[in-house]
Formats: sequence, C-alpha cells, structure tokens
Amino acid sequence: MEARLQKIISQAGLASRRAAEAMILEGRVEVNGTVVTELGGKFDPEQVEIKVDGKVLSSAKAHVYYLMNKPKGYVSTASDERGRRTVLDLLPEVQERIYPIGRLDMNTEGLLLLTNDGELMNGLLHPRYEVQKTYVARLAKGLSAQELRLLREGVQLEDGLTAPAKVRTLTEEPGRAKVEITIHEGRNRQVRRMFQAVGHEVLALKRVAFACLTLEGVRRGGHRALTEAEVKMLYEKAGRQPG
Ligand code: URA
Repeated sequence: MEARLQKIISQAGLASRRAAEAMILEGRVEVNGTVVTELGGKFDPEQVEIKVDGKVLSSAKAHVYYLMNKPKGYVSTASDERGRRTVLDLLPEVQERIYPIGRLDMNTEGLLLLTNDGELMNGLLHPRYEVQKTYVARLAKGLSAQELRLLREGVQLEDGLTAPAKVRTLTEEPGRAKVEITIHEGRNRQVRRMFQAVGHEVLALKRVAFACLTLEGVRRGGHRALTEAEVKMLYEKAGRQPG
C-alpha cells in the first residue's frame, strides 16, 4: 500500500514523522537509488527500495533481530557524537539499519537485543509490560540482610522509588561478592544506582538475561539471530501481535 515517504520512515521506527521530513529535505533519503528531497511523494514500501543515509530501510517483511553479548568499552547507541566505538561496529555484516533495544552502559557487558522492528522495540521498552532483565553485579563486599531487603522492596533514587526486585547473593568471600538482581524497569544506570543507594559500588556489571533469553552459546563480542519462536515470545511479552 502506498504511503507518504516520511510516514514509511517513521513507521519503520527510525525517526518521528517530523524528523523523517527533515531527513528527506536534507537529501539523506533515496528511493530506488534516486535521492528524493520533496515531501509529497507516495510509495509502496513493498515495491521500492528506500535507503536512509545509504542503509536500506526495511519493511515489515524484512525485520531482523539479533542477540549480542556486548563487551565493555562499546556504547550502545547507533552512533556516537564523540566517535567512540558503538555496538554496531560489532555487526559490520548487517545491512539493515538496526538499533539496540534499550541501553547498556559503556562499561556494562552482556545481553543486548538489536532490531529494525520499531513496533517491537517500543513495546519491550514500555514500562507497562514489565519485561524482566537479570544482571550479575560484582561488589567489593557482601550485602547485609537489611541491604538485601531494601533492594528487594525498593530503594529511593533521585527519580523515585524502585519497583520490587528479585535479589540474591550468588557468591561471597572476603573482599568480593557476586549478586544477581532482576528488575523490570529500565531507568538510566538503574542497577548501579540501586546498589549505590545501599552503600555498595558496582565493580562490574553484566546483563545475563532479557525476558526468556540468555547469553548461552554467544561468546563475548559475538551475536546470533533470534529464532522465530523467540521473536514470537518477545511479541507476547511486549503485548503486541507480530506483523
Ligand atoms: N543498570 C545499570 O546500572 N547499567 C546498565 O547498563 C544497565 C542497567
């Protein structure tokens, strides 16, 4: 079905309608190899190839989904104004314009999903659907019973009280401890700030699970495509219908 070019771009999850208009006016959009700088054009996204900044814009037919084991030292944005390495540098063969679903701090490692499916991305990031994310944090000392209780029940951060979390100590020895924490919110640096609120600095942080997905079989810095069943499961978690 034909639609205005700016609408097609925004529906692909790439940008707001207004930002898509700006992209067109700036000459960043090509249709079948020809730059289009006028806003009125209508196209059928199934019939033409649309590129933004030289990358193919995928229609619903060509959604791609990857699970990455992000190493430390990479930012999880699609581009970085300070020229730092981004997670996309680890996926050079991917032709589609993909985005991380949520973020991991530069110094956090572990499970990161990437896709060009804006609909799924919005659903998974929406607080209403409470998608569970599990992290393992390395601390300099173990948590007291009182600190564990506080983390489980909710700690006061500058942006409000955290929702109840699952927290358990995995290992504890003099001078080090490993703690597993599962949260369903996605606030900025949330896990580090939660531990900080109970007096512990996080020395290392790794996300080990997202919804039902784990890092099993994916080496650090590596990635794999999600299976159809996994994508379907994510759609259910995100309260959406595939397609
Ligand atoms: N919480 C953090 O503190 N950092 C992350 O990268 C993710 C969750």
